[in-house]
Amino acid sequence: TEPLRLGIAGLGTVGAGVVKIVRKQAKLLEARTGRRIEISAVSARDRQKDRGVNLANYDWEDDAVVLAKRDDIDIFVELMGGSDGPAKAATEAALAAGKDVVTANKALLAIHGQALAEAAEAAGRVIRFEAAVAGGIPVIKALTEGLAGNEITRVMGVMNGTCNYILTRMESEGLGYNALFDECARLGFLEADPQLDVGGIDAAHKLAILSAIAFGTQPDFDGVEIEGIERISLEDIRQAADMGYRIKLLGVAARSPRGLVQRMQPCLVPAGSPIGQLEGGTNMVVIEGDAVDQIVLRGPGAGEGPTASAVMGDICDLARGLRIPTFGIPATQLETMPAALTGMP
Ligand code: NAP
Ligand code: HSE
Repeated sequence: TEPLRLGIAGLGTVGAGVVKIVRKQAKLLEARTGRRIEISAVSARDRQKDRGVNLANYDWEDDAVVLAKRDDIDIFVELMGGSDGPAKAATEAALAAGKDVVTANKALLAIHGQALAEAAEAAGRVIRFEAAVAGGIPVIKALTEGLAGNEITRVMGVMNGTCNYILTRMESEGLGYNALFDECARLGFLEADPQLDVGGIDAAHKLAILSAIAFGTQPDFDGVEIEGIERISLEDIRQAADMGYRIKLLGVAARSPRGLVQRMQPCLVPAGSPIGQLEGGTNMVVIEGDAVDQIVLRGPGAGEGPTASAVMGDICDLARGLRIPTFGIPATQLETMPAALTGMP
């Protein structure tokens, strides 16, 4: 059997993590998928940077778009980030060149997901993005595969590791959120622009992606009502604790008679509830379906290992020949639905 050849653009927290798994688990990956998984070429901004992993055997491309179109890759692995710029250009180039794409980029999918899904289908290719939502939790797989027999009625949860980490450390250490950025950076949790994290935008990107899959609608990031955690004070956290509550950045998506409800906002949750007990970078996604009732998925939502784990799951699926449309059904069949805006906060 022919090897499956990767081109990886982006060698930061996630990209370096993926290279490490491909190197360390070569035998296991081949046994599980029946194909040898190889890296042909890599790309990032700074060729000289030490990334804690040996890149000597891989070709280097300065330009991710050039990498995306190389004849010696089967899958373009986009791990640069950003909703536009090189991530979008290289993803489009890869699809046009007949490559499948694996990405961890929620901003790209939430904003350009519909157009990219259509481009992928027109080219007979697939885009996989398990790592884009809730880090190491296989929530996309749960929705598109395990729960495919359900009409999904509601999706909700904690979807940003940075915010949950900051909120829990504010509570335990009495520190303001600005003081906690360095810790989040060390853990590899932060977006390139941390305002996306604390502003609730990153979590809203994830919610828009989950909504699209859950409800068969075009991703509608603009329809998400968003409030971040920047205005949460230590005093808010103390008062919540006095009443037996914790503050969590909680996302909820559901169909309603007025349209699609999508909200991401800080909420009071009972301290003893499953969501109330989430610590650090842990995420939790609750999915409700007409047949299954409710399932709860919990796990690490950010950082090198968990995110690379999710990327590798997608690569293994493609190695096995599993080809699911981007949002679970063909892009041309995704409905448009008005946003049921409430004017919150
Ligand atoms: P990161 O550590 O900042 O790494 C980004 C990588 O992309 C770096 O290697 C950087 O090159 C490269 N890059 C950035 N801009 C580029 C450009 N214009 N041209 C070429 N290369 C460029 O980011 P990350 O945390 O790995 O995140 C990568 C993606 O995964 C993002 O979409 C992020 O939202 C997503 N994600 C991250 C996590 C997480 O926990 N970190 C979890 C889920 C999803 P240099 O190293 O040379 O600067
Ligand atoms: N910045 C994101 C978070 C990374 O903290 O959840 C995982 O998507």
